[in-house]
Order: sequence, then structure tokens, then C-alpha cells
Amino acid sequence: MAEMVQKESGGAILNHWILAISCILLIITGFAFLFHLESVGSVFGGFETMKTVHNWTGVVFSVSLVLTLFQYLGDSLKYDADDAQWFKVAGGYLSHKVKVPPMGKHNPGQKLYYLGIALFGILIALSGFGIWLMKDNSTIMLLSHFVHNLAFIFFCIMVPVHIYLSTLANPGTLQIMLTGKVPLDLARKRYPKWVKAMGKM
Ligand code: HEM
Repeated sequence: MAEMVQKESGGAILNHWILAISCILLIITGFAFLFHLESVGSVFGGFETMKTVHNWTGVVFSVSLVLTLFQYLGDSLKYDADDAQWFKVAGGYLSHKVKVPPMGKHNPGQKLYYLGIALFGILIALSGFGIWLMKDNSTIMLLSHFVHNLAFIFFCIMVPVHIYLSTLANPGTLQIMLTGKVPLDLARKRYPKWVKAMGKM
């Protein structure tokens, strides 16, 4: 049996799936509001019920998002020379000829993805509560609708990219968010600086 190392805790995994499922439900229902998709509305028993589901799923998403700040924000704000070099070679995704520098626990693409989720997540949550609770204030309503739609575009593009990168594009990654563990051999290849810091290199 291959030796495994723990990359994510049980709590982090649980929170990831609460964030992911709530986010995807919000994207589907959000899409249905935007394009008046009757077929999706009928799944929820009409647009009124779908709105209630959307609003309360937004509450779950917001709480889950706040919890991710304690998990990923610190690491996502730290970049070193290897991270800068990773950007220069586009993480090796555009060519197999370039040398990808050694990485820590998360690569800079993941760190930026997290910062995007945190920033646009906060914006989409605040504007969502604006639309939900400030109906009498037309300025806040207008601004909230604009910000909500802008942040929605970010999620519609970046979430599918994230799902692709953490499944098909990088086999072996999904198990991190299922079991929390990754084979030591794979971890040595992908996150050598993190493995070294644990004294397992
Ligand atoms: C439903 C499909 C999804 C799958 C299969 C998936 C898979 C994964 C995996 C495997 C990781 C760990 C990557 C690693 O440690 O190397 C991860 C991390 C993460 N996921 Fe997801 N995810 C999904 C949806 C989402 C959604 C919808 C969001 C946000 C709204 C999200 C936010 C994050 C964040 C913030 C991280 C930590 C930073 C990172 O590693 O990029 N995920 N995901």
C-alpha cells in the first residue's frame, strides 16, 4: 500500500462540499432567474419557491465562505520567487517543454482562485442581501443588481474551470477533497516544498 499524507482535514472537506453544493445550486437557480427558465422553476414548484431556496442557500454559502477565510486566506496571500516563476511558465499548462518550479501546498493559480472566490463571494453575498432586504432603497437595489450580476459572471466562468482542473486535468486531485489524503509519491512530485516542510522528503 502506498504511503499517504494528509492534505485536508475532515472539517475542511465538509466545508468545501457545503460551499460547492450551495454555490452550484445558486448558479443553477441564478441562471434560471436571469433567463426565465420555466423548466428549472417548475423543479422547485415555481419561481417564488425557487427565490426562497436561492435566498436561504445564499445564507449557507455566506457562512461557509466566512469559514474558508480561516482555512485558505493566510496561505493565499503569500507568494515567493517560485510562485512568480510559476506564472511566467503558466504553471506548465501551455507547454510541456518549460520547467515548472517546485510548489508548496497550493500553487499560485489555486491561491488566486481562492482570492477570487473570497472577493467575488463577499460581493455576491452582500449584493444578494441588498436585493433581498433593501427593496425600498432604489440606489442600493440598482448597485446590488449590478454587483450581483458582475460577480455571477466570475462564478460562471471560474467554477467550471476549477472543477475541470481538480478532476480531469489533474488525475489524483479529487481524492484530496474526498478522503483528505494524497499518496506521498504524488505529493513529492506536486508539492515538494510542502512535503519538505513536513520532513518527509
Ligand atoms: C463540484 C465540483 C467540485 C470539485 C470536484 C472540486 C474539487 C476540489 C479539489 C479536489 C480541491 C483540492 C485541490 C488541492 O488541494 O490541490 C478543491 C479545492 C478548493 N475548492 Fe473545489 N471543487 C468543486 C467545486 C467547488 C466550488 C463550487 C467552489 C467555490 C465556490 C470550490 C472552492 C474551492 C476552494 C476555495 C478550494 C481551495 C483552494 C484550491 O485548492 O483551489 N470548489 N476543490
